[in-house]
Amino acid sequence: MYKENIEVMISKEEIAHKVKALGEEITNDYSGSGKELVVIGVLKGANVFLGDLIRQIDLPILVDFIAVSSYGLSTETSGVVKILKDLDLDVEGKDVLIIEDIVDTGLTLKYLTENFKSRNIASMKICALLDKPERRKCPIDIDYLGFEIPDKFVVGYGIDYAEKYRNLPYVAVVKS
Ligand code: XMP
Ligand code: MG
Repeated sequence: MYKENIEVMISKEEIAHKVKALGEEITNDYSGSGKELVVIGVLKGANVFLGDLIRQIDLPILVDFIAVSSYGLSTETSGVVKILKDLDLDVEGKDVLIIEDIVDTGLTLKYLTENFKSRNIASMKICALLDKPERRKCPIDIDYLGFEIPDKFVVGYGIDYAEKYRNLPYVAVVKS
């Protein structure tokens, strides 16, 4: 049974409720901005969260994805971030909202926010489903947060362990 080692941490109902609230907040905050809003998912982990979240944003948004490497197949960050797939869209002059699955050490977002700042964007904010503040190495200002969690390795709702479990409809802890 592929689910015998996992335990639900955040149910699909809790996630749906939070995603709806975040979508409404984002809609309110950006309506009347006058700029185009580009919602950028950090692949692969943010894919499921982004898919649900954008359907709760009632604005004419653009969607793009960026892929970075940080963990490889291990559960520990290497600290080295590399862009594996860059944006397709030109974000110059636009409002940028970065969507992350989980902020852990903060190294990935530190790299991404510095990279986006060099692209002459109008504004930048961060939306993350999960925050693991205990392991932070560099400060990250999360503008829209789903849930703060303890320092446990989590999977599901887009988040993987060695590329598995992304399809679970809830966030779960892997028991060792
Ligand atoms: P940093 O440390 O750069 O990490 O903030 C961000 C990325 O690390 C991955 N990450 C996890 N992946 N379970 C995972 O499957 C976890 O508990 C976990 N913590 C961090 C994640 O891909 C995130 O984008
Ligand atoms: Mg990952």
